[in-house]
Amino acid sequence: MYTIRQIHSDDLFQVIDLASKVLSEKYTPQLFLYFYESFPWGFWVAEKNKKIIGFIVGIRTSQRKGRVLMLGVQENHRKQGVGSKLLKQFLREVIKRKIIQIELEVQASNQNAILFYKHHSFSIIDHLDQFYQNGDDALIMRWGEPSQY
Ligand SMILES: CC(C)(COP(=O)(O)OP(=O)(O)OC[C@H]1O[C@@H](n2cnc3c(N)ncnc32)[C@H](O)[C@@H]1OP(=O)(O)O)[C@@H](O)C(=O)NCCC(=O)NCCS
Repeated sequence: MYTIRQIHSDDLFQVIDLASKVLSEKYTPQLFLYFYESFPWGFWVAEKNKKIIGFIVGIRTSQRKGRVLMLGVQENHRKQGVGSKLLKQFLREVIKRKIIQIELEVQASNQNAILFYKHHSFSIIDHLDQFYQNGDDALIMRWGEPSQY
């Protein structure tokens, strides 16, 4: 069994290590520290036997909007509901804060993630050519109310 909990400072090294293995984009350790300090309510981990097996980083971008910046689950723990639990926890925090719309970017070639987010009521709203460092296109996906705020 695993538990979902808010990140502690002691977890940061493990999260940075996991992110380097499961995410295709590279992020500096300073960026993780910044999100940990600025949006602790949006930073959650899944822990099993004292090991971090998944994490989510989300932020508020304006009064009514937020973003999921990173979500990753260790490969051998996928398709067991871990990503869903992390995302649902983040969305609960979002709702508490009266944020009504969440957007994110995902690689247009990342079918697993696209299906995952569709499963959680995100829709594709835009396509960005050559958005990523490696030249890949991105899709923008949105959860929540249409954009009038
Ligand atoms: C995307 C990711 C976070 C999903 O995490 P997960 O723990 O495997 O997801 P869940 O088990 O909660 O899946 C929930 C639903 O999403 C969909 N889904 C998830 N993975 C899928 C896959 N490989 N193929 C098809 N559908 C998938 C399914 O509808 C699934 O429901 P089901 O198990 O009843 O079929 C995980 O695959 C991952 O870490 N990928 C690498 C990093 C990444 O792409 N992050 C997202 C972009 S930042």
